[in-house]
Amino acid sequence: MNTAVLKSSLEGLRTASCIVSLPPACYVDPEVTTVEIDHLFRGDWFGVGRADQLKEKGDYVALDVAGMSIILVCDQSGKLQALANTCRHRAMRLLDGTSNCRGIRCPFHSWAYRLDGSLVAAPPMDEVDGFDKAENGLIHYHAEERLGFVFVCLYTDAPELDYFLRNFADLHAPWLLETVVSTRREVLEVAFNWKAFLEVFNEYYHLPFVYPDSIGDVYNPPETPDQVAGDFVTQFGATEGTGGLLQDEQDMALPLSGRESAGVRYTWAFPNLTFAAGTDALWVYEAYPLGPNRCKVVQTACFPPETLAFKGADAKVAAYHSRLDAALAEDIPALETQHLGLAHPDAGQDHFKPLLEPNVAGLYPLVR
Ligand code: FES
Repeated sequence: MNTAVLKSSLEGLRTASCIVSLPPACYVDPEVTTVEIDHLFRGDWFGVGRADQLKEKGDYVALDVAGMSIILVCDQSGKLQALANTCRHRAMRLLDGTSNCRGIRCPFHSWAYRLDGSLVAAPPMDEVDGFDKAENGLIHYHAEERLGFVFVCLYTDAPELDYFLRNFADLHAPWLLETVVSTRREVLEVAFNWKAFLEVFNEYYHLPFVYPDSIGDVYNPPETPDQVAGDFVTQFGATEGTGGLLQDEQDMALPLSGRESAGVRYTWAFPNLTFAAGTDALWVYEAYPLGPNRCKVVQTACFPPETLAFKGADAKVAAYHSRLDAALAEDIPALETQHLGLAHPDAGQDHFKPLLEPNVAGLYPLVR
C-alpha cells in the first residue's frame, strides 16, 4: 500500500457511517509504518513512561524510538532533558540502557557534556580555528511531564502539549496519578504490530475468550467512553474486585477507596502510551514500532506511596506483578496469531463493537 492509498483508506474510515477496523495493511505494510513514524513519532508528542525513573540528578535512560536514540536525563538542576544520543564530533552513540552519571563523556575521542547537553570539554579542539564549544552541545528535543508521565517531541517547532491533553488532568484527577511510585519497568520485543498491543489493551471484547481463567471474570462491561478534548481516549469500567489482580488472588488487594475503587479507567494517550488506573495501582505500557511486524513494549507498574508503606505490601505488590505477567503471557500469543491473520492477502476490514472496543481505530485520525 503506498502513502496515497493509505491516506485514501484513512479518509474512508473518517467518513464511514459504521465503525470499522483499519485496513489490514495498516498492520503489515512497511510504508504504513514509515508514515506513522514520520507523522506520529517525529512530528508530534509521544509518551516515554513515568518521570520517577529519572528522579535523581544524573539518572538517565537511553531510548530507541522510531529509528532514533534519545537520552532522557535529569540534569544538574533537576530538569528533565531529552537529548540526541549522538556525539556532536563524529556521531558516536553516547549512552545505553539506564543508570546514573555525573556527565556524558563520549567513548570515542572523549568530548564531555554536562547533563543538560552543553559541551564542557573537547580536549585538543580548543586549538581549532572557529571551534566554539557553545555551538557544539548535544541536540535537544522537547520533554515535558504531565501527571507523572513524560512526553517527548522530536519536532523543532513542537505543538503545545496541553492542546493534546486538554481535559486529560480533569478526567484522571481522582487517581492522583502524579503521586504514584514505579515498582518495576520491563521491556520486551514481540512479533506483532505496535498498534495491535495498544488496541487490545483498550478493548473488553476479548477478555472472556483470551483470559478465561485469569482475569476474564474480573471485568464487567465498561461504561460509554468519556468525552475527551485532546488526542487521547479513556473509558471507565466496573470490576469485580480489582483489575490489578488475578481473579483467584483478589484477597491480595491493596486498599481501595471511593467511587473509582469499583473499577478501572483505561486510557490511551496517542500515539503510543496507554495505562490502566485503579485506586490501588497504575499499570502503564509504551509501544514502539520496530517495523510493521515487530514492536517494543515497555511495562511500568506503579502504586500509591502510602500503600507501599504498609506492612506486607511487598507480597501484595508481587501478586500485582504476577497478574501483569499472566495477562501478557496470554496477550502475546493471541496478538502474534492475529498478526499472522492480518498478513493474509484476503484479510479485510469489518465492523467492531462500539461499547467493547470503541478505540480500535481511534489513533488513525491523527495521521494528518
Ligand atoms: S565521536 Fe565523540 S568525541 Fe569523537
